[in-house]
Amino acid sequence: MKLYLDSANIKEVETMMSYGIIDGVTTNPSLLKKALPISGLNITQHLRKLCKIMKGKPVSIELTQRTHKEMVKQARNIIQKVKCNNIVIKVPVCTIINGKETFSMDGIKTIKSLSECNIEVNTTLIFTPEQALLAAKAGAKYVSPFTGRMDDYLRDTHRIKYDKKDYYPFQGKKNVEDEGIISGIDLVQQCVEILESYNTEVLAASVRNTQQLRECSIVGADIITVPYTVLQLMVVHPKTMQGMKQFDKDSSEEYKAL
Ligand code: E4P
Repeated sequence: MKLYLDSANIKEVETMMSYGIIDGVTTNPSLLKKALPISGLNITQHLRKLCKIMKGKPVSIELTQRTHKEMVKQARNIIQKVKCNNIVIKVPVCTIINGKETFSMDGIKTIKSLSECNIEVNTTLIFTPEQALLAAKAGAKYVSPFTGRMDDYLRDTHRIKYDKKDYYPFQGKKNVEDEGIISGIDLVQQCVEILESYNTEVLAASVRNTQQLRECSIVGADIITVPYTVLQLMVVHPKTMQGMKQFDKDSSEEYKAL
């Protein structure tokens, strides 16, 4: 299983790369909005820097255009301007027209056009296995089911109070479901099962805590993308800390000087 960093922050990417623990990076417009004022670079320079730090490992960059023609053009522009060979183009599975609730298949059309030109596509905002299936059929290299946001959706539609970081059970809650999806992890599992015979990798996204990460791995996600803070928390356990304190106490000066 591969582990990606879900961040556009240059320092965070540099740090996790220096530990040798990440296999890729995912960005989105919201993450870039937060990271750009910190770097002070323009968007092209910033994206190029992220790609260079990742030394050939995939960096997902999301399209912000919404029609097939504009999306293909923007993907080509990004590749041409950023000038790195590890760019993965992130395409929303379903685009909206002029900010309205009218959906279009332009996302799917774009996945097909880009994939046919050997441009790797990560399909984003996946909330049903059917969306994942369509993306895979159109040639997507990756599909990103949104685990945490799926849990948010289930809790919102059933008026359950929560904090975004709260763990939501894999087994769901009684009578809480969305057309047979009972939790974010269940969504990941169904995507894994439905795409078994495809070359498309399931990239679990929107992961908010370490338990969710573990469960994504157990249900067979090929890749999990994780925020910096969740990656840091993976190393922590009270008994590890307690054990460290005891070993520190029991280490003689002679031993420490060794
Ligand atoms: C990454 O590909 C996604 O854009 C990201 O994981 C979304 O995470 P969020 O739901 O916590 O914003």
